[in-house]
Amino acid sequence: MKFFVDTADTAEIKSLAASGLLDGVTTNPSLIAKSGKQFVDVIAEICAIVDGPVSAEVAAMDFDGMMAEAAVLRRIAKNVAIKVPLTPDGLRACKHLSNDGVQVNVTLCFSPAQALLAAKAGAAFISPFVGRLDDIGQDGMGLIAEIMEIYQNYPFKTEVLVASVRHTMHVVQAAKLGAHVATLPPNVLRALFAHPLTDKGLAAFMADWAATGQKIV
Ligand code: E4P
Repeated sequence: MKFFVDTADTAEIKSLAASGLLDGVTTNPSLIAKSGKQFVDVIAEICAIVDGPVSAEVAAMDFDGMMAEAAVLRRIAKNVAIKVPLTPDGLRACKHLSNDGVQVNVTLCFSPAQALLAAKAGAAFISPFVGRLDDIGQDGMGLIAEIMEIYQNYPFKTEVLVASVRHTMHVVQAAKLGAHVATLPPNVLRALFAHPLTDKGLAAFMADWAATGQKIV
């Protein structure tokens, strides 16, 4: 399973990239606004840190506008993935860009039917938002299961990118379902490392080691 981080905070991205476990980055207009930086500048900065796909979302609502914005975003770096919304214009842009060899991330997916359309439009990634479905009392992870089942019936190349992740169990459940990617807020990615018994066990080992008075180097 690939791990993307869902942020435009370049300090966080640098720190997480140092782990060697980061496969890409996703951003959205809200995260760009939170960064306080110019969109093109911050995407360029992120692309210089991470080799994998960096999703940059168009802001236009119509096909021509999306294609014009995508042309600007594509020029930033080779690893920019164009993010388009799951609308008729968004999927039309997805089809055109995918045919032109561009990686497209189709975002704001909330149903299996929408995911099927995105795959037919040649998306590199489909982003179902599990947390936002859970927030309204629907089954976010159930959506991932349905999409995985549908995609396994056909030779689609589209990867399921689990988005709107709220906690580590979302990651574990998505991995059990075989989802290809999860995009994680930095705190969730860090939380994957944590277990109190690891901390307790390590403290005990270190105390015992110190008592030996030995050094390895
Ligand atoms: C994914 O690409 C989105 O940016 C993100 O996962 C949305 O998450 P949220 O529901 O926490 O805003």
